[in-house]
Amino acid sequence: MGFRKDFVWGGVTASYQIEGAAYEDGKGLSVWDMFCKEPGRIADGTNGDVACDHYHLYQKDVDIMGEIGYQAYRFSATWPRILPEGTGPVNEKGLDFYDRLVDSLLAADIQPWLTLFHWDYPYALFRRGGWTNPSSPQWFADYAQILAKRLGDRVKRFLTINEPQCFIGIAYDDTVHAPGIHFPIWDTLLMAHHVLLGHGLAVQAIRAAAPDALVGISPTCSAHYPDTETAEDIEAARQAFFDVDKGAPFWSASLWSDPIFKGDYPKKLYELFPEHMPNIGPDDMRIIGQPLDILGQNIYNGKAVRADSKGGYVFVEREKGYPFTAAKWPVTPKALYWGPRFLAEAYQIPIAITENGLSCPDVVSLDGKVHDPIRIDFLHRYLLELRRAAEDGVDLRGYFHWCVTDNFEWAKGFTERFGMVYCDFETQERILKDSAYWYREVIQTNGENL
Ligand code: FCB
Repeated sequence: MGFRKDFVWGGVTASYQIEGAAYEDGKGLSVWDMFCKEPGRIADGTNGDVACDHYHLYQKDVDIMGEIGYQAYRFSATWPRILPEGTGPVNEKGLDFYDRLVDSLLAADIQPWLTLFHWDYPYALFRRGGWTNPSSPQWFADYAQILAKRLGDRVKRFLTINEPQCFIGIAYDDTVHAPGIHFPIWDTLLMAHHVLLGHGLAVQAIRAAAPDALVGISPTCSAHYPDTETAEDIEAARQAFFDVDKGAPFWSASLWSDPIFKGDYPKKLYELFPEHMPNIGPDDMRIIGQPLDILGQNIYNGKAVRADSKGGYVFVEREKGYPFTAAKWPVTPKALYWGPRFLAEAYQIPIAITENGLSCPDVVSLDGKVHDPIRIDFLHRYLLELRRAAEDGVDLRGYFHWCVTDNFEWAKGFTERFGMVYCDFETQERILKDSAYWYREVIQTNGENL
């Protein structure tokens, strides 16, 4: 019992957060390059120009992953590194980088999981209307085809997009992420529709170029869970999990995943925004609903839910002094049991946790090591819940810890450390934290030591 024998353990990164080399080898600009130039946007006034210099130090990073014993590594490609203008001429040097990285991973016996898009949208396309442009789904599919054609002989796991909740919601609704401009709800809903169409077209392009690859997507969600395990609370939590909140519709799991797995947007979305939904073409839902092999789900936390007396649900207030991480995110291990379980039940698809982790105020101690007992405790609690889900029959295929090295945490700059590997951003020295050694044992025993 426990995790499947072929369950994969690994870590995950995102291009803009680690690569650096922002102005090298013909790379075009992304919305994040531009966003960071605006004073006040990034907490510590920094940017991803150099970040972990992974573009140059990738071999060192792959060696470290090998030392921890990763079986798989999820990373993303920079769209404008490959297509500097977003469409049109290909930058061969950009493709060469991912070639080298993939070869180096395979040489280390680490399975590459490639995310096509993790937020660093080509600035040239943003200037053409970005995701509001009716051609935007095809732009994305063309980019997907180029990557799949070039790498599909060696990459057998593709994820189309990462957390559409964030690059639409946090970017165009909350304006905390690039490009940081508020758009009205009808435009953001239209963008969401184009993102989903782009996803569907990209799946078709990947299948054509790499027919033996497994294809999925990596959304995120607030993984709400029942306060007690009574049938009523479980049902209430399920409702909360898939509900759409008028004030934060883009955070919903169902807004993004229902069209893909169930062929339409949730009914509630039409009810909330009857006048603002995009026009949905006759073929759109068929394109969006391309069959997938895997749901890559990112899960960090959720809220406890109770049944109310009317067949609905209420959120339970967090207890006084509840545990939270350095980023002030609550610690809720049950999210890693109920999240995968609710999703697997609703969408009937194998699941990989493609992100989970926490930020800690890690320092290099006098002994030269980085002791992060809080990370170990957090992961231990979460992984026990994930194992319980596997034991209760949820079809789980992998777990990716966010993140490999500390890196550029978007609007928070370098003020959060999510890595299992400490990064000194001045010297680019890497130090394995205690949690990396701990994780090595988890991997070696396939989670039996937990
Ligand atoms: C996720 C993002 C990832 C990283 C972690 C902490 O939402 O996908 O890039 O920022 O949070």
